Amino acid sequence: MSAFYRAVNWNRQKYLYDGALAGGVALYLAGFVGLSLRDPNATLETALIRGLGTGALVLLTVILAIGPLARLDARFLPLLYNRRHLGVTMCLLALGHAAFSLVQFHALGDVNPLVSLLTATADPARPGAFPFELLGLTALIILLVMAATSHDFWLATLSAPAWKALHMLVYVAYGLLIGHVALGSLQESPSPWPAALLLGSATAVFLLHLVAGWRERRGDRESAPGTDWVDVCRVDDIRESRARMAMVGGERIAVFRHQGKLSCVSNVCAHQNGPLGEGKIVDGCITCPWHGYQYRPEDGQSPPPFTEKIPTYSLRVFEGRVQVDPRPHPAGTRVEPVVIGTVDRRADGPAEDPFYVGYHPVPPPILGRAARNRTLALLCLTLLSAIGLAVFQEPAAPGTFEYGTVRVFRGQLREFPYPSLLVPAGGDDAGAARYTRHLLVAQGKHGAAGLARGMDGAWVEVRGTRIARPEREMLELGADAITETPPAPNVRMGIQIEPPYSLGVQRLTGEIVDSKCWLGVMKPNRGTVHRGCATRCLSGGIPPILMVSDSTGSTRHLLLTDAAGQPAPAWFRGLVGEAVTLSGEVIQDGDIAVMRVREVVVVGTR
Ligand code: HEM
Ligand code: FES
Repeated sequence: MSAFYRAVNWNRQKYLYDGALAGGVALYLAGFVGLSLRDPNATLETALIRGLGTGALVLLTVILAIGPLARLDARFLPLLYNRRHLGVTMCLLALGHAAFSLVQFHALGDVNPLVSLLTATADPARPGAFPFELLGLTALIILLVMAATSHDFWLATLSAPAWKALHMLVYVAYGLLIGHVALGSLQESPSPWPAALLLGSATAVFLLHLVAGWRERRGDRESAPGTDWVDVCRVDDIRESRARMAMVGGERIAVFRHQGKLSCVSNVCAHQNGPLGEGKIVDGCITCPWHGYQYRPEDGQSPPPFTEKIPTYSLRVFEGRVQVDPRPHPAGTRVEPVVIGTVDRRADGPAEDPFYVGYHPVPPPILGRAARNRTLALLCLTLLSAIGLAVFQEPAAPGTFEYGTVRVFRGQLREFPYPSLLVPAGGDDAGAARYTRHLLVAQGKHGAAGLARGMDGAWVEVRGTRIARPEREMLELGADAITETPPAPNVRMGIQIEPPYSLGVQRLTGEIVDSKCWLGVMKPNRGTVHRGCATRCLSGGIPPILMVSDSTGSTRHLLLTDAAGQPAPAWFRGLVGEAVTLSGEVIQDGDIAVMRVREVVVVGTR
C-alpha cells in the first residue's frame, strides 16, 4: 500500500489499545473472582470458570455491538479497527472457561472427559434437563474455527465470499451461547438480574443491527437506480478526503472527494469486504477502516508492490449533484476523476483525527479524546457487569473438602449398601461405643466399593481426606488406604448400633445428587449446571443421595438403593439435577436412612 503501510504493525496506538484491553480483562477477572470469594463457601475454581465464561460473553457482546455502532456513529470507528484483537482475546477466555469446566465437571471419571461431555446429557425435551454444555461446545468450535481462519492466508484460500459467510457464523455462536447460559446457569439463578442482563444485552445487539441496517437500506433506497445516471448526493455533502456511500445497480459504491476532485469506486474492500466508504484518503490513497488496505481513487488499484484491485465507476456532476453510472468498470480500470475545483476546508487532517489507529504513524496525540473516552466507557461497562454478575450469583453451598490433608481414622467397616467407616466416638459403661459414620469414596469420580470389598465388619485403619457438611461426614481414600487392625482397646463390646428397621413405603420429592460433590467437593454441587458431573460420579459408583427439603427449608438426605436394597448408583444417573418424586421402602440403618426405590413417580417438576 502506501510507503507507510505495514500489514501487522505494532505501534504506540496499538500498544495502548491492547494495553487497555489486557488491563480491562485483568480488572474484570480480578473483580469477578474477588467479589465471588467474599462468599466463604465459594471456591477459586468456580469463580474462575464463571469469570472467564462471563468475560468471554461480555466481550463477544461488545464485539458484535461495535459494527453497527460504527455505522451509526463514526466516532466508534477506532474500536472497529481493533476488533480482531478483541476477538482473539474473547476466544482465549472462552477456551479457558471451557477447559476448566471440562476438567472440573468431566475429568477423573470412568470415561474420557470429552466422551463424558458428549454423553452426560439428560432429556433435551425438558428445558430444566437440556444438555446446555453441548450448546457451549458448538459455539466454541465455531469461535475456534473463526480464530484459526482469521489470517489472510485463509481469506485468499477460501475466497472473500466464502470467508465472509464463515465469519457470519459468529451470530450463530452468539445465539448458541445465549441458549447455553439461559438453559444452564440461569435455571439455578435465585435472582432475576442475570437473566435481565442477558436479555438486555442480546436485545441491544439485535436492535443496533436493526437500526444500522434500516439506516443503510434507507440510504440505498434514496439512490435507487435511474435510467442512466444514478443521483447520489450534493457535491457539498462530501467532506474532504471522505466519501458518500450509495447503492447503484444493486452494488454499494463510494464517491470520494480529494483535493478538488471526485472519484467513485466499489465500497467493498478486496481484503475482507470492509466498507471503504467509511474509510478516508491517506497519502492520496483510499484507506480501508478495517485493516488499512489502500487503493488509488482514480483506478481502484493498490499502489505497488501490492496488487489488489477494486471496480471503479464513471461519475459526473450535474447541477451541483453527484451522479454515478451504475455499470461498474472492471477492477483496476482507470477513470479520469471529475474536477470540481473547490477543496473542502472542513477537512480533518491526520494530526487531529484519531481515526486511524494502528497502521499509520500519525503524529501525537496518539489516542484521540473520542477514542479514549469510548475505550474508558467500555472499560467501566465491563467492570460494572463484573460487579453485577458476581454479586447476583447463587450463594455457594456449605461443605468442606480438606484437599491435600490426609488424616488417619480407626473404626469398623460397613460394606453395604455403600461402604462406610464407623468410628467410635467414646465408650459407654458397658464398653459399647457410640460412633460417627464416614461414608467412603475413592479419588476422582469413583466409589469405594472395590476398596472395601470383602471387609464388611472388619476393624480397619483408614487414611483419608475429609469431606463434610454439618449433617454428614465422608472420607476420600487413595489406593491402599485401608489396612486391617485390631479394634481400639476401649471398644470391648463393639459399636452400639440398632438393627435396621423399616419406616414403611414412602413417596418423597427431592433432588438426586452424588454424595461426594454434595458434601463439599464441588461448588456448584447440584442442579442443571452440575448435571454432567453428577452423572459421571454416579456412573463411577459414588453413593446417590436423595436430598429432600421441607417447607421450613430444613433438609434430610437418604441413601438410594434399588428395590432389593442393593447398591445401584449408575441406575440413578439419568435422574440427577432436577426434581424427582420417588417411591420406596425407607429403612433406618443406625444414623442414616436408606430408600429402597421401587418406582420413579415424576421427573422434572419442581
Ligand atoms: C466445551 C464448551 C463449554 C462447556 C463444557 C461449558 C460449561 C459450562 C458450565 C458447566 C457452566 C456452569 C458453571 C457454573 O455455574 O458454575 C457454564 C456457564 C457459562 N458459560 Fe460455558 N461452557 C462451554 C463453552 C462456553 C463458551 C464458548 C462461552 C462463551 C464464550 C461460555 C459462557 C458461559 C457463561 C457466560 C456461563 C455463565 C456463568 C455463570 O454461571 O455465571 N461457555 N459453562
Ligand atoms: S477489509 Fe481488511 S483492509 Fe479492508
